Amino acid sequence: MTDTQAPAVRTDNTERATPKRETHIKMAARDVNVFYGTSHAIRDVSIDVDMENVTAFIGPSGCGKSTFLRTLNRMNDTIPIARVTGDITLDGEDIYSPDMDVVQLRARVGMVFQKPNPFPKSIYENVAYGPRIHGLAPAKRDLDGIVESALKRAGLWEEVKDRLDDSGTALSGGQQQRLCIARAIAVDPEVILMDEPCSALDPIATAKIEELIHALRGKYAIVIVTHNMQQAARVSQKTAFFHLGHLVEYGETSEIFTNPREERTKDYITGRYG
Ligand SMILES: Nc1ncnc2c1ncn2[C@@H]1O[C@H](COP(=O)(O)OP(=O)(O)O)[C@@H](O)[C@H]1O
Ligand SMILES: [Mg+2]
Repeated sequence: MTDTQAPAVRTDNTERATPKRETHIKMAARDVNVFYGTSHAIRDVSIDVDMENVTAFIGPSGCGKSTFLRTLNRMNDTIPIARVTGDITLDGEDIYSPDMDVVQLRARVGMVFQKPNPFPKSIYENVAYGPRIHGLAPAKRDLDGIVESALKRAGLWEEVKDRLDDSGTALSGGQQQRLCIARAIAVDPEVILMDEPCSALDPIATAKIEELIHALRGKYAIVIVTHNMQQAARVSQKTAFFHLGHLVEYGETSEIFTNPREERTKDYITGRYG
C-alpha cells in the first residue's frame, strides 16, 4: 500500500501535539488468555488502562473485544465454560485473587451493555438500588442526593427530575442507556466499561452518549468497545486493535488511525476487512 492513501478516519491531532503527561495506570492486564471450552478466544493480551484517557477497543466482529472487556470485571465468571488465565490488577490488586469480593469488584469496575437493560422499576429505583445494597446511603436524604448527582453526571437529570417514579423501561433507548450509565456511576466506580453502548441507538442519542463520555473522561477510567471506527476516533485518546484474539496494536488514537505500525491495523482501518 502507498503512503499517499488518505486515512480512513480523521482524528483530532491535539493529543499528538500535547506533551506526554503522567498517567495513572488504573488496570493492568498481563498475558491474559481466555478459553471457551477448548476454543481459545483471547491470546496473550497485555494492556494498561489509565485514568486520563478514554480507551477504545476496536476490531472485526468475533475478534474478542467483548470477551476481553469482560475479563476486566470478571463478568466471564458468569459463563460456565469460560476460563481466564494471566494477571489482571486494579490499582495493583489482583482481581482474580480468591480474596476478591466480586460484587464489590463489579461496583468498582462498572459495565454498560450493548442493549440498554434498566430494571423494570422506577427511574429512581434503578439508580438507588446499587448504593442501597452497597450501604452507601444511610438515610433516605443521602440516597436522594446520590440519585440526583448520578443522574446529573449521566446527563439525564433535567429530562427525568419530574418523573423519577416513572418506569425506567418507559424511557427512550438513549435515555435508558444514560440511566444505565447513571446506575453504574451511583456506586462510585473507578472504571466504567462500555460494550458497544450506542449500537442500539439513533444518531442523536449516540451523540449524547459520546458527549457524556467526553464529560466523564478523567473522572473514571473508561473503556469503550466499538465496531464504529469514527466513534473510536471521536471519543478515545487510546485505541487497541484486536484481531483473532490477539491485541495487534495499542497506542494513541491519532497514531492508530493515521500512522499504524502494523499492516493488519492498516488493512482494518482502511476498510480492507471487517
Ligand atoms: N459465551 C460464549 N461461549 C462460547 N464462545 C463464545 C462466547 N462468547 C464469545 N464466544 C466466542 O469468542 C470469540 C470472541 O467473541 P467476542 O468476544 O464476542 O467478540 P467481539 O466482541 O469482538 O465481537 C468468538 O469466536 C465467539 O464466538
Ligand atoms: Mg462484542
